[in-house]
Amino acid sequence: MENKVREVFKTRLGFLLIAAGCAVGIGNVWRFPFIVGQYGGAYFVLIYLFFLITLGIPLLTVELAIGRASRSSMAYCYENLESKGSKWHLNKWWQFSGNYFLMAFYVVVAGWMLYYFLAFTFGEIPANYTRDHAAEQFEGLISSPITMLLCVIALVILAFAIVAFGVVKGVERYTKPLMIILIVLLAFMAGRSCTLDGFSEGISFYLKPDYSKLEGNWGEAIWAAMGQAFFTLSVGFGAIAIFGSYMSEKHKILNEAIFIALFDTIIAILAGFIIFPACFTYGVEPDAGPNLLFMTMTVVFSNMAFGNIWGALFFLFMLIAALSTMIAVFESTIAGSMELLNISRLKAVICNFVIIMGLCLLPLLGFNVLSDVHILSENSGILDFFDFLVSNNIMPIGSIVFVLFVCSRTGMQWDKFITQCNIGKGFNISSKFYYYFKYVLTTIVIVVLAIGYYKLFGDALLNLFK
Ligand code: TRP
Repeated sequence: MENKVREVFKTRLGFLLIAAGCAVGIGNVWRFPFIVGQYGGAYFVLIYLFFLITLGIPLLTVELAIGRASRSSMAYCYENLESKGSKWHLNKWWQFSGNYFLMAFYVVVAGWMLYYFLAFTFGEIPANYTRDHAAEQFEGLISSPITMLLCVIALVILAFAIVAFGVVKGVERYTKPLMIILIVLLAFMAGRSCTLDGFSEGISFYLKPDYSKLEGNWGEAIWAAMGQAFFTLSVGFGAIAIFGSYMSEKHKILNEAIFIALFDTIIAILAGFIIFPACFTYGVEPDAGPNLLFMTMTVVFSNMAFGNIWGALFFLFMLIAALSTMIAVFESTIAGSMELLNISRLKAVICNFVIIMGLCLLPLLGFNVLSDVHILSENSGILDFFDFLVSNNIMPIGSIVFVLFVCSRTGMQWDKFITQCNIGKGFNISSKFYYYFKYVLTTIVIVVLAIGYYKLFGDALLNLFK
């Protein structure tokens, strides 16, 4: 048995940067910029901010409060707070699986980032690449299971090695400097972007309010903004709650939630400042979709003076964002398995390493050996299916469960939730928000869930009734 005294973060900055590191990830540096460009620039940012405030921040407070009040991971956070005889704790299985499914595909995308970082660092990307070259290279990467596996293993070992040292000596000690490097890299590259010829054109493509992109597309834009608010803040299956459980009682929960959401949004907006001016300066049409990062940006850097250095720095930035999320989620699964099975940290690290490596093989092989497996639609593979399971199901349903849990009399109970939120210095949450949390918040989430399903399966359903 490990010692029973629960670790608490050494510094507030440590806690804030780690929770922000959990939130800041591929969702910010890659997903946010391209969907903003796609759905009307500044208008979309406003819709997104609306959901961040009405949905994102309340959900963050719920998770942080559950973590801090229970001082436990997903393994016992329900048991420690629910009333005797209730069944809330059954939700832990659902939430455990969310962490694993998320990491199974997340590490594959992070592995691509490592690949491109190394390719630029070792001068493997020749100058004056065209789009076809870049596409060929990306195809080459995803058709090679061995290359992808090597990248994934290297990253997963690194992240687990850090978590193996514990909360203060591992997670806090390494994530803090990593996040500071991330901020410095971002400031440096975004600052340099301002000097590029295509700066104003790039920024106006990215942020200029363009109503024509929204017209007739409102529903989809709203759905995308809500989905992004969820995904980017990492709410829904206890990865934020675990950091609440290591948090001190010096500050009120709302203050910390606002910081995390703000930090996360600033990083996301600035990531676009690096991407779009560079595209317009080098005459490359920014892609609307996922190809933006691995194809468009490779072409851009290979055509730039000192492109290898800029490319390496850019992918290092992406990599750190992804790595900080991996460290955070692994901490959540490791703390969870230690508490659940009563095993040492080292044993939990080994078990979790095996599970993650096993699971990630499915999305990884989905691009090559298993490329005939299409689960959701003809052109989506296993990675998309895992993403769908997590983003469209486990995260929203997990969020509803958490909110109902704090409101319910058999759960944590609303009064205790409010008392927990308001311990320490800072902004109070009023207990009058009860109806908002219980009815409005849950309804919005159910609507997101329903729209997601309709988008995916609506046509098939309509055909059934024809
Ligand atoms: N927020 C992370 C990102 O922006 C990804 C993420 C989604 C996540 N859901 C999560 C992280 C749940 C931890 C827990 O990349």
